[in-house]
Amino acid sequence: MSAPTGRARRVLAATAAAVVGTLAVGMAVAAPSSAAAEPTLGQLAAAKGRYFGSATDNPTLTNSAYTAVLGSEFGQITVGNTQKWQYTEPRRGQFDYTQGDQIVAFAQAHNQIVRGHTLVWHNQLPDWVTSVPAGELLGVMRNHIANVAGHYKGTVVHWDVVNEAFEENGTRRQSVFQQKLGDSYIAEAFKAARAADPNAKLYYNDYNIEGIGAKSDAVYNMVRSFKQQGIPIDGVGLQAHLVLGQVPSSLRQNIQRFADLGVDVAITELDIRMRTPRDAAKDAQQAADYRTVVNACLAVTRCVGITVWDFSDGYSWIPSVFPGEGAALIYDENFGKKPSYWAVFEALGGTTTTTTTTTTTTGGNGAGCTATYRVVGQWNGGYQGEVTVRNTGATATTGWTVRWTLAQGQTVGSLWNGVVSTNGQEVTVRNANYNGTVAPNGTTTFGFTGSSTGTNPVPTATCTTS
Ligand code: XIL
Repeated sequence: MSAPTGRARRVLAATAAAVVGTLAVGMAVAAPSSAAAEPTLGQLAAAKGRYFGSATDNPTLTNSAYTAVLGSEFGQITVGNTQKWQYTEPRRGQFDYTQGDQIVAFAQAHNQIVRGHTLVWHNQLPDWVTSVPAGELLGVMRNHIANVAGHYKGTVVHWDVVNEAFEENGTRRQSVFQQKLGDSYIAEAFKAARAADPNAKLYYNDYNIEGIGAKSDAVYNMVRSFKQQGIPIDGVGLQAHLVLGQVPSSLRQNIQRFADLGVDVAITELDIRMRTPRDAAKDAQQAADYRTVVNACLAVTRCVGITVWDFSDGYSWIPSVFPGEGAALIYDENFGKKPSYWAVFEALGGTTTTTTTTTTTTGGNGAGCTATYRVVGQWNGGYQGEVTVRNTGATATTGWTVRWTLAQGQTVGSLWNGVVSTNGQEVTVRNANYNGTVAPNGTTTFGFTGSSTGTNPVPTATCTTS
């Protein structure tokens, strides 16, 4: 009945020198015992002529578990808060770069490029700016840009010069700058930024301009007119604070049309939020969404890089701003790599160093199944596994059971979308009460975390239907 068909899949990454384990048909293949052998997202992106980065904020720089990832995984850092006006010019004419400098120093110490964020924005703007008389505001704005961009000259590769200046319907947001200076304030800001730091690429940055629509049309028209008039603009930042399952279908086309105007495009603040808690189905959708975004950027030469808006779900701005939502990033709270991480990894050309082993068993009801086992994350002392059950028979299953052996002292800890029992080294997972029925050729996936201190070879999993 049972025909083991061990199958291993590995594609070499451009920058992955070391591979782990031996490719062999019909045998379990060793998964990497640590992530160290794998290229980082930053390295993979660099091999594609792009950067892959993360925003960060000052309080987290004292957390060594956090900085270990921040300093190694990414090729680029965005200063998440502390270059904003509220921090850099809290009182008129008094500049403070203490915290922004800390992040820049961290990036430099880790060979990471820095995106500066942001010079002119209606939020995180100190109250005093709002009360500047209309006749003085242009001078105040120019002075702010001259000082801040002047201070960071040579240390940032991009500046988000103006942030979020449009409404959803494509009209100008009625910020204090718009109200007191009129439409020309954006062009004035770009001219001042060019004068202060001629080598930084100057970006207009906004949200909900990832797809084609009224708002992105307005930005498009502005960029086109800036190019016609010789106003210095080099790039458009698509923030990409996205919702699970709602990556705009026109994303690639939209990136392309900006590129065709002669500017670069960057994905500047990527996160993809879901209703919490996470589950395997949402994680899989999120992985697909991240993959779509990365692929859209890679499809357009002038899409220069991608930045996630912090990298770990424990350090994301989403839960505080969108109640009931979160889990928007590529690492979990404990710095475990999520399926979304591996989707980015693969989309950037990384190898799947995890392996799959499937075994088909035909059970009752004429239905058969395969179990595909994958290590989706591995960290010091622990791992995350995922098993996809596929119905290979002609009739729906009424239930399924997957079994494997933990040969190296690993454990299975918390498990979702299934019911686990263990007997020594033997692990048995039965369907939960809601996912025992799988249509012919349909799949269902369960996941788990566990501990592993030595090697963590991928086991041969067997699948039985009932
Ligand atoms: C957010 C920060 O992440 C938060 O810590 C802060 O409280 C508010 O601002 N668009 C932007 C970013 O351009 O600057 C915002 O960052 C998120 C939305």
